[in-house]
Amino acid sequence: MNSNRHPAIQYGDTVIAYVNPESMKPVEVAAGQTFQNRFGTFHHDDMIGLRFVHLLEPTPELWTLVLPHRTQILYQPDISLISSFLELQPGVNVIEAGTGSGSFSHSIARSIAPNGKLFTFEFHEERAAKAKLEFAQHGLSDIIVSQHRDVCKNGFGIFNSVTAIFLDLPSPWEALENAKAAFDPQRVGRICCFSPCIEQVQRTCETLKALGFYDIRMFECLVRPYEVQRIESEKLPLAGPTPKGSHKAFKRQSAGADAVASSPSSVLTSKPKESVRGHTSFLTFAVLLPTPPSDGAAPHPTAASADAAQ
Ligand SMILES: C[S@@+](CC[C@H](N)C(=O)[O-])C[C@H]1O[C@@H](n2cnc3c(N)ncnc32)[C@H](O)[C@@H]1O
Repeated sequence: MNSNRHPAIQYGDTVIAYVNPESMKPVEVAAGQTFQNRFGTFHHDDMIGLRFVHLLEPTPELWTLVLPHRTQILYQPDISLISSFLELQPGVNVIEAGTGSGSFSHSIARSIAPNGKLFTFEFHEERAAKAKLEFAQHGLSDIIVSQHRDVCKNGFGIFNSVTAIFLDLPSPWEALENAKAAFDPQRVGRICCFSPCIEQVQRTCETLKALGFYDIRMFECLVRPYEVQRIESEKLPLAGPTPKGSHKAFKRQSAGADAVASSPSSVLTSKPKESVRGHTSFLTFAVLLPTPPSDGAAPHPTAASADAAQ
């Protein structure tokens, strides 16, 4: 996460104790402490060279998989889509609310480093304090400005200065007017609201339109992972007649599997995973156009004024 990190593990570092993709734990390396898992007890003082544990530098991707959950969090499929549509890149100034468990904050920080700023807001005092502490421990205090604040009641206290806003709030529409005021009026502003229910999306879209946002679009991000495994060919239906009513795709896959067989007795196969993460949330995106230069310091146009001008 912090690209200036010392190349070797030191006391005070956070490392990820990785057993396999389903089993990882964050560990704060401290003198005299131990880390335990099903393979035994490991002393922090001599972690290097252990047989069953890999110690990894924490990346935002790994942190999302191991972080202490204080709330529901964002996962990489949604994070990737949001980061791309909000055009997060080095130097961008971003607002996020609420901070929650800081899962997305870590990815945002990496995308906008080294000279962008993330202003992140959380109205739950203890959660805000814990997130601030974690950002400091992970060397992100120069990039993330973390505040305890109710953004629906009190706004963001930021005006005319960001180009990207992400809202993961129960009632994002209550924060949209203040969000609009935070955008840099000289540049295109991009917003995303993350809401699990379609009723929330409807209210958000109505408010975005009334406030003069454009290009309002909603997506749901679903991932379909595949499992790849080598199987003895006599256990496969491919060896016998094609199953009754089988789909054309099955025949195509069968032909593909035959093509990658590495020996007459085994075949490399792939199939979609049976249980996958389903609906997380709806992602509502919108764009706020810059104020034309001739308008001077005039505020962004509203939908009503834009319609009247057409
Ligand atoms: C689902 S969590 C956010 C999770 C976060 N996106 C992550 O990836 O870890 C939503 C957070 O918004 C906070 N929140 C709700 N209403 C708020 C408001 N009006 N102002 C600031 N934070 C708020 C909640 O306390 C909660 O921690």
